[in-house]
Amino acid sequence: MDTVNIGILTLSDRASAGVYEDKSGKEIKKLLQSYIKNEMIFHYELIPDEYELIKQKLIYLSDDKKCDLILSTGGTGPALRDVTPEATEEICDKMLPGFAEEMRRVSLKYVPTAILSRQCAGIRNKSLIINLPGSPKAIKECLEPVFSAIPYCIDLIGGAYIQTNEDIIKAFRPKK
Ligand code: MTE
Repeated sequence: MDTVNIGILTLSDRASAGVYEDKSGKEIKKLLQSYIKNEMIFHYELIPDEYELIKQKLIYLSDDKKCDLILSTGGTGPALRDVTPEATEEICDKMLPGFAEEMRRVSLKYVPTAILSRQCAGIRNKSLIINLPGSPKAIKECLEPVFSAIPYCIDLIGGAYIQTNEDIIKAFRPKK
């Protein structure tokens, strides 16, 4: 089985300053450990909501660490400091609007304020990058409904072959 490189990028002014613990980054790791059977190497970064720094870390996780999947959390809302989607779009070669469309659609069943997330997804090199909102609860609500499409997307961009724990999430790969 391929080893999968995962980038986790937490964007939070307060967590990065040590005001509180980064529960969101931990939640992403926990969910992926339940979904994915492959051995995983996690590359974790916790930084403030700074546009240039976000771009720099996304480029590092994609180009240097060769992550198959990069999940960011936080900074997707309308507040002045929320710039994760802009930084993501800036460094991506291609956008994949379907992921965020579906995440927002499903999220609206939980909270009306799901409409406030500007989260996006795209590809840089061989990395699939997906923005998630900042709260641990939102992470699960967003990731679970789209995860079945992630392994095939990573196949198509030349990344690792991901095998899922099928009792939790079944990857969908169209028959050729
Ligand atoms: N999506 C889900 N599934 N569940 C949530 O609780 N919170 C929303 C939205 N998306 C939420 C959600 C709220 S209140 C905001 S402000 C935006 O995500 C942006 O969050 P962020 O700035 O932490 O990224």
